[in-house]
Amino acid sequence: MTKNPYKGPDSFTVRAKREGYPARSVFKLEEIDRRVKLFRNGQRVLDLGAAPGSWSLYAAQRIGKTGRLLAMDLKPLDTVLPIHATFSQGDALSITNEQLALYAPYDVIVSDMAPATTGNRNADQARSFELYMRALAVAEALLAPGGHFVGKIFMGEDFSAAKQATKTAFKEERTIRPEGTRSVSYEVFLIGLQRKVDGKATITEAKPLAPLPEVAPVEELPAVDAPVDAPVAPIHDRDAPPRKIAGGTPRTAAPVPGGRAVPGGRAGAPAPKGRTATKHATKSSATAVPAKVHGARKRSVL
Ligand SMILES: C[S@@+](CC[C@H](N)C(=O)[O-])C[C@H]1O[C@@H](n2cnc3c(N)ncnc32)[C@H](O)[C@@H]1O
Repeated sequence: MTKNPYKGPDSFTVRAKREGYPARSVFKLEEIDRRVKLFRNGQRVLDLGAAPGSWSLYAAQRIGKTGRLLAMDLKPLDTVLPIHATFSQGDALSITNEQLALYAPYDVIVSDMAPATTGNRNADQARSFELYMRALAVAEALLAPGGHFVGKIFMGEDFSAAKQATKTAFKEERTIRPEGTRSVSYEVFLIGLQRKVDGKATITEAKPLAPLPEVAPVEELPAVDAPVDAPVAPIHDRDAPPRKIAGGTPRTAAPVPGGRAVPGGRAGAPAPKGRTATKHATKSSATAVPAKVHGARKRSVL
């Protein structure tokens, strides 16, 4: 029986987990960033096909809290993002450019979108091409002149058409197959550097960014030092004032039309018990990313 190359953790998977990223794909973006210098502090970034969230965590760290990131995916995101990042669930093939324009014009648009593979290579390539061309069309509409684009595509007969379209839209085109790509995979990344200025952009003026929500610092919980035989307070005291949740400013959805958006959070999944307020939720700086810090600390405040 042949070994399934996708089964079981390899060294990239182990390292990703150790560094706090949900997927090994983070090292592909890291390599692309190292080679073509994608990200800078303060940039606006759109991440298409963001789940489970490694690229978003990496990009959010690189742009820092003066930047903004909109992450979107078909699936819900089960990763807590820093507060300067927003997640929106939706289908890139049907969502409008306007719905993706929360922080437009973007400095960088990345797409790691991939279809669920069927085993039929031609069909998978055709769907990958469709996703790539959609991401490129979003980039043509929402990238600032001079902005950069990264898009994943499965190699196939449409590849040269995708490459040509990228060349047409950008001053420079590169094709990169990062080291972290599994040997059996036929994916590559087409990179468009410096979006050409032409009439296609739908948004050219940057909207002023809304300030990040003010969040009170987390107070340390007082030590419980009451004697064990001290009288126990009634469980429901209806006249008692409501209990304050330390650091507990709830995250609210940003106004992303057509999508379920959660700034600095995840959407589509209920918050696990005991994660209503965390130290992580109050820290939104780039230094709070990546890793152990991302996965918000579990601390029950009640
Ligand atoms: C390889 S994964 C992305 C991994 C991600 N970059 C990370 O680092 O965690 C590909 C993603 O593309 C998403 N996807 C596929 N088709 C999509 C579509 N039409 N719209 C939005 N996302 C899509 C999938 O749901 C999947 O989560």
